[in-house]
Amino acid sequence: MAKKILILNGAARKNGNTAKLIQAFSEGARNAGHIVQEFYLDSMDIHSCKGCLHPGRDSKSPCSQKDDMDQIYAAFADCDVVVFASPVYFWTITGPLKTAADRLYASLECMGYGRFVRESVLLMTADGSDYSQAVTWYRTYERNLGWKNRGEVLGKGKTEEACKLGASL
Ligand SMILES: Cc1cc2nc3c(=O)[nH]c(=O)nc-3n(C[C@H](O)[C@H](O)[C@H](O)COP(=O)(O)O)c2cc1C
Repeated sequence: MAKKILILNGAARKNGNTAKLIQAFSEGARNAGHIVQEFYLDSMDIHSCKGCLHPGRDSKSPCSQKDDMDQIYAAFADCDVVVFASPVYFWTITGPLKTAADRLYASLECMGYGRFVRESVLLMTADGSDYSQAVTWYRTYERNLGWKNRGEVLGKGKTEEACKLGASL
């Protein structure tokens, strides 16, 4: 079955190491018949969550803030798989990815957490080898939302692994 895959790209460098993993993952997924939509967060106007705790009722625009997050809400409402992609910055994910992940709160609150059960994937690169804090963040996020972790690719140049994971969905 063709799946709709939403990629949240938290890297700043458009042609960097994370982008290469995403490219390989997407190629594998598309070749397997899946539909991939990637959001390059660094170029989007996405503000941090204001903590108002007042989501609206429209799943395509549930947040009180009206910004580029609406593009992501529409895709999130309709996707099967969410891919979190990021370089390691100071032993965790980048700010843009954390901001977008926080803002998904409005969707979850609006429609009910049970309506947004998704599969998820983590793609990360780093200069070193300590991904532990980022992986803990990711696993805690998906586990508490009741999502299914389909895999993690951690490391520069692991394009073959990323491609295989994309194809395996
Ligand atoms: C602000 C900043 C913080 C970083 N912090 C870490 C870190 O804590 N651990 C690590 O291994 N690499 C760290 N790096 C290196 C990047 O994670 C690594 O070069 C990554 O592959 C860059 O991905 P990109 O090419 O997609 O931008 C950092 C880089 C930057 C710019």
